[in-house]
Amino acid sequence: MESIENSFPIWYTPLEKGGCGTGMVGKSKRKRLIIAIDGPSGAGKSTVAKSLAKRLGYLYIDTGAMYRSLALKVKETGISPEDEIALHKLASSLHISFIPKGEQTRILCDGRDVTEGIRTPEISRLASNISKQKGVREALVQMQRKMGEMGGVVLEGRDIGTVVFPDADAKFYLDAEGEERARRRYHEMVEKGMKIDFKRTQEELIQRDHHDMRRDHSPLRKAEDAVFIDSTRRSVEEVVEEMVRIIKEKIKSDE
Ligand code: DC
Repeated sequence: MESIENSFPIWYTPLEKGGCGTGMVGKSKRKRLIIAIDGPSGAGKSTVAKSLAKRLGYLYIDTGAMYRSLALKVKETGISPEDEIALHKLASSLHISFIPKGEQTRILCDGRDVTEGIRTPEISRLASNISKQKGVREALVQMQRKMGEMGGVVLEGRDIGTVVFPDADAKFYLDAEGEERARRRYHEMVEKGMKIDFKRTQEELIQRDHHDMRRDHSPLRKAEDAVFIDSTRRSVEEVVEEMVRIIKEKIKSDE
């Protein structure tokens, strides 16, 4: 099976072409940056992170997809979401790869393409539920650090700036008004051909955010040094443009 290391050449776009440059960067002396994007469901993290990664020629890592892949395995193997030891064992044994295919990124879990299978409401709930377990977080955070430690990455999730890479070169906390977040999530699911109800989508989103923000281990919160961006009524291009501007400013001030 292809590993993440050899499936991603890390491209480099010079600063003047809209990229981030390559020069030794600030305290971390990384040649390629680590960019963290956190925030609640439906804030636009995935679309923005994907677009930003493309713009910079960086690797996009969707950490939520990793919790979702584990949730799918939990469902298939019948392990109890409360069985901490079994969950830790399962999480530690997973092989997750992100494989770029044209404009898309396919997600492989233990060699199987789970890209579509992990996007159901049931898996969303289960992913949020198992992500509260300390053992699960330890295993997946370790995997995420390995994937991102060389830099040249945009990672999105709930704890990237606070736990996974507290020394990330640029951190963003993306949010949007609740109604708009629910609408985005609803349209995303409808586009995928799912038959769902708007009210139900909204309720599930509120419940999941509540859960992700209140759990004991690595709850969703804005890192102190993260830049807060409200994406309500703003286009993806606008948000990405703002991020690129902030990243460039950061590079300059770190030099
Ligand atoms: O981003 P997403 O909706 O695909 O994530 C699914 C769930 O995974 C989310 O409800 C909480 C969990 N998650 C997490 O705990 N930490 C992350 N870094 C990413 C996701």
